[in-house]
Parts: sequence; C-alpha cells; structure tokens
Amino acid sequence: MAKYLNMTKQLNGFFKRVNKLTQRELDADSTFHQVERIARIKSAEYIWEHMTPGCLYNREQDYWNDLIKRIPARGLLFEFGVYKGRSINYLAEQLNKKGDRRRIYGFDSFMGRPHKTGGSGTDASKPNLKGVKPVVLPNVNLIKGRVEETFATFMDNLKLKDKSIAYMHLDFGVYEPTKYILEQTLPYLKKGAIIDFDELLGYADWKVNEYKAMMETIGRYCDFEHIAYCETENSSDIKAAIIITRLYPTH
Ligand SMILES: C[S@@+](CC[C@H](N)C(=O)[O-])C[C@H]1O[C@@H](n2cnc3c(N)ncnc32)[C@H](O)[C@@H]1O
Repeated sequence: MAKYLNMTKQLNGFFKRVNKLTQRELDADSTFHQVERIARIKSAEYIWEHMTPGCLYNREQDYWNDLIKRIPARGLLFEFGVYKGRSINYLAEQLNKKGDRRRIYGFDSFMGRPHKTGGSGTDASKPNLKGVKPVVLPNVNLIKGRVEETFATFMDNLKLKDKSIAYMHLDFGVYEPTKYILEQTLPYLKKGAIIDFDELLGYADWKVNEYKAMMETIGRYCDFEHIAYCETENSSDIKAAIIITRLYPTH
C-alpha cells in the first residue's frame, strides 16, 4: 500500500512539472509575450538612436553614482515616489559623502500607486505603506500626500530666491502623476538639470507611461540628451536619465 501511495505521489509530481512546462510554452507563444518582445526590441532601438559614450549600466549604484557626479552644484533635489526610501537614502548617503549639504525632498502619499495597466483605484499588491513614512537619513525631507495636492503649495512656501531644480528622480511608476509633476516642474528647470526616470523603457507598455509623459512635456519645451541607461538582472524595466540642454518658453 505504502509503495502504491509513493508511486502515485511521484506520478502527481511528474504531471505537475509537465503541466508547468506546457504552460510556459504556451506563455512564450502568447500575444502578450510577443508584445513584450517587441517592446524590448523598440527599447533597444531607442537606446541605439540615443546613445552617448559609456552610458549603459548594469548596476543601479554605478548608474546613480554617474548621475550624482553630474548634478549641478546649485539647485533643488527631488524624488517623486519614495516608498521605503531605498533610492532616496542611497542618493542622500552619496551626497553626504561628497560633502554636498543640500537637502533632498521626497514626495509620496505612502499609499501605493494605481494599477499600471487597466483597472482603477489603489492596487494593494503594489508598493503601499498604508500612509506610514519610512525611516530616512537626516538630509531627506519627506512630503506626505498625493503630489497633485502637495507640490504646488510646497513650492509656494519655499523661502528661496532661486527655486531652480538641479535633479529629480521620477518613480511614481504610472503616467498621470508623472505627467503632472513634469508639467509643474517645467518652469523651475534649468540648463544642466538632470531628470532620472525610473522605468522609461523595457516593459510592454513603456510607450504610454513615463516615456509618454516625458515627450508631452520635456519633449515639447526643452532640448535634452540621454546620458545614462540602467538595466539590471532582476527587471526588464530600464532606467534612463536625461540632461536638459536648452529650454523654450512654455507660453
Ligand atoms: C515604485 S514606488 C517608489 C520606489 C522608490 N523610489 C524606491 O526606489 O524604493 C512608487 C511610489 O509612488 C507613490 N505614488 C504613486 N502615485 C502617487 C501620487 N499621485 N502622489 C504621491 N505618491 C504617489 C506610491 O505611494 C509608491 O510609494
């Protein structure tokens, strides 16, 4: 009896593995899979067309270190989309090491982001800290709330003569708030400003997320150059950073 049960168990395991393999084959053949392949090819073509020497990185830290070296000495530093503070704390630490005494302002609702594709409302499976701010380094200021409700007031209340922006990291992961913040920050951009897009290229719908927001704002009112791209092993999303080379009047 025990021998029979053991055999049944083994057979079940075998069929489970076969089913998994078949599913993988089917997935590889699906239309969505083809869309992903095309999206990756288009990303490669885009990068091919917009290259500068030494601009491809496989490690986030190397990519960010390159950007940090290029940040103008004067101007505001922002991160839009902070979540647990991983990227903002890295930036803060590196600036500290460089002796750069500027603060970095991080904007987040800490309530997660809406669905990336389809659906509506907040997707609980996406980064969501239920409104709780993460622990950050002393040179980071967090501004909690939907950016559509916090950014304009923040800028109005800032007691600075020069409110120009030197660097911003955009990591909301969706089109709407990215477009909003790019529109809002256009008047504060200056030549040499660095804009770091967390997921500009690489995934199925990249053309309608950060890339679309960038082209509808920066693409219309500025000249810019791509200075760095980063693709890591664990994700198909590609980070991309640009430098503003010229600004045109917005109205
Ligand atoms: C991908 S996470 C940021 C990850 C972070 N930069 C890191 O490297 O760990 C995106 C964040 O954007 C925030 N977010 C999305 N839409 C927002 C909005 N309209 N206003 C404020 N925060 C928003 C979410 O709460 C979420 O924490």
